[in-house]
Amino acid sequence: MPINILGIESSCDETSAAVISDTKILSNIIANQEVHQKYGGVVPELASRAHQKNIIPVVDRALAEANIDKKDLDAIAYTRGPGLLGSLLVGSSFAKSLSLSLNIPLIEVNHMQAHLLAHFIKDNSENKTNFPFLGVNISGGHTQIVLCKDYFEMEIIGETLDDSIGEAYDKCGKMMGLNYPAGPKIDEFARKGNPTKFKFSIPKVSGLDFSFSGLKTNFKRFIEDKSSSDKLFIEEEKENICSSLQETITKILVDKIIQASKNTGIKNIVFGGGVSANSRIRESANRELKKFKLFFPKIEYTTDNAAMIAIVGYLKYRAKKFTNYNVESKARYDI
Ligand code: KG4
Ligand code: ZN
Repeated sequence: MPINILGIESSCDETSAAVISDTKILSNIIANQEVHQKYGGVVPELASRAHQKNIIPVVDRALAEANIDKKDLDAIAYTRGPGLLGSLLVGSSFAKSLSLSLNIPLIEVNHMQAHLLAHFIKDNSENKTNFPFLGVNISGGHTQIVLCKDYFEMEIIGETLDDSIGEAYDKCGKMMGLNYPAGPKIDEFARKGNPTKFKFSIPKVSGLDFSFSGLKTNFKRFIEDKSSSDKLFIEEEKENICSSLQETITKILVDKIIQASKNTGIKNIVFGGGVSANSRIRESANRELKKFKLFFPKIEYTTDNAAMIAIVGYLKYRAKKFTNYNVESKARYDI
């Protein structure tokens, strides 16, 4: 009999539920919270309220789409952290109550591990990687290079010292008047632009760490300078600006991946997180990392989703790593 697990994700501004049967995803429902768009970033209080409103309909839809009855579930997996505490509490309370009422195991999942294990979903790729691999976690909250020795044996070997790569996209996008999250919009405009038209600063950070705050300041000055003499500058040049910004961010990332591989001798690279949906990063990695074995999750498993929580739930179920009801949610939770 296959193992059926319900995964629940509520760490930030997506309420998501997914059903997995062994390693195959049967449903993956995601409710995006559009309420944050006009604020230029996620408003924690509004996110918790939206999770409360969404969680029951999202879980109901995930079960219906999977054609699975609650009584056929073997376990409930949920995001324990990291994330916004109020948002995490909605998902964890719901998961605990459901697991108690169905009398089935509860499984806590680290959201950042889940981003890096999403490619173990069976319908994802024929081409599975082996351990060890280098995990490149690039999202709105994190930028990490992770040495992954086994499913649950991961070590951060490089990370951002300030803003995350997703914040670089979102904050620069906001300066251009784009709604949150700006990453996908910048990606879209950039496709029609010239990546070498404008030059932005590449930070000098030693080792495998990253920094994006200097780039943000550089970008802010550039936009202010150009717009002060030409009010239509952003409107007329948005495709070139986005393309040049994206090129700079991509170069920062690819250079660090090459360095991490040199340091560790590992050539299997697994990408995860919302920014790994970026078309230029995918293109550039495929071109410049030809000698590497690259694994990108399917686009629907890059930004926050419960399918990745469900696959980790399955892997933990197999390893009998179950969770007590007194386990607390964690806003900060090391990988
Ligand atoms: O993994 P995720 O959904 O949430 C966190 O765990 O943070 O990542 C969200 C981030 C946002 O910053 C968003 O702008 C960025 O991923 N993003 C992109 C793209 N799609 C989403 N950034 C660049 N290009 C994209 N296509
Ligand atoms: Zn995430």
